[in-house]
Amino acid sequence: MPKQTINILQITDMHLFADIKRDLLGVVTYDSFRAVVKHATKTLTKYSPQLIVLSGDLSQDDSEDAYSHLLNTISHFPQPIAWMPGNHDKPKLMEQVFAHSRLTHDKHFILGNWQIILLDTHWPNHVSGQLSAKQLHFLDNTLSNSKQHALIFLHHHVLPLHTDWLDPLNLQNNQAFLAILDKHSWVRGVVCGHVHQDSSIERKGIPFISTPSTCIQFKPLSRDFALDSQMPGYRYLHLEADGSLHTTLYRLEADKQFLPDMQSQGY
Ligand SMILES: [Fe+2]
Repeated sequence: MPKQTINILQITDMHLFADIKRDLLGVVTYDSFRAVVKHATKTLTKYSPQLIVLSGDLSQDDSEDAYSHLLNTISHFPQPIAWMPGNHDKPKLMEQVFAHSRLTHDKHFILGNWQIILLDTHWPNHVSGQLSAKQLHFLDNTLSNSKQHALIFLHHHVLPLHTDWLDPLNLQNNQAFLAILDKHSWVRGVVCGHVHQDSSIERKGIPFISTPSTCIQFKPLSRDFALDSQMPGYRYLHLEADGSLHTTLYRLEADKQFLPDMQSQGY
């Protein structure tokens, strides 16, 4: 890997509870999250990431304790840690709990030849997402001010994944988002969580990437709600000085404690 490569570690969709013993469809989310963090910690020396991004659904029960468990679990990471809310989160509560933590509230980072932009797609009382006028303006304005290669993180998926039950739960004003991207040819990638699966779809030369959750996985290409037996995971994004981008996906080794109840009909 070239010396000037920028590496970003993305961890997503932890769905933590106040009660660390609670499970989501058979997976104790605190345990699977801790296992992912332990695994990722071993890769830090290999990649020396400049930034860690937590891309939403950090909590399942909107509790202060869930966010505190998160902070305690990642407190040993020396890197800046950025975050955005998912549909399961309470953004105001997150801001309060994270205010005096080592998590950064910055949503725009300059790293080498790149700029990283984090967007908030939380839409109160909806599972699907929406970018407010303020968020759309922030994106447009930030991209207009700098032509550095841009990588965008948001919780919700933008393009259909052909997972029929999940596709209507995407970013609802995706056309407004895509119209801004089309104005700025230096956007190099869009990365999300939310869909609990590994995917990459290309639109106009830009990869739209989703990353597995640290707990349960949703089965790709399923018509109705279906879980996948794939293990929890996380992703590294490798950003090259010339604007090219590639990624490395890691999953935990097979372990039945992280296998959900495959008969579940929904959550
Ligand atoms: Fe999620």
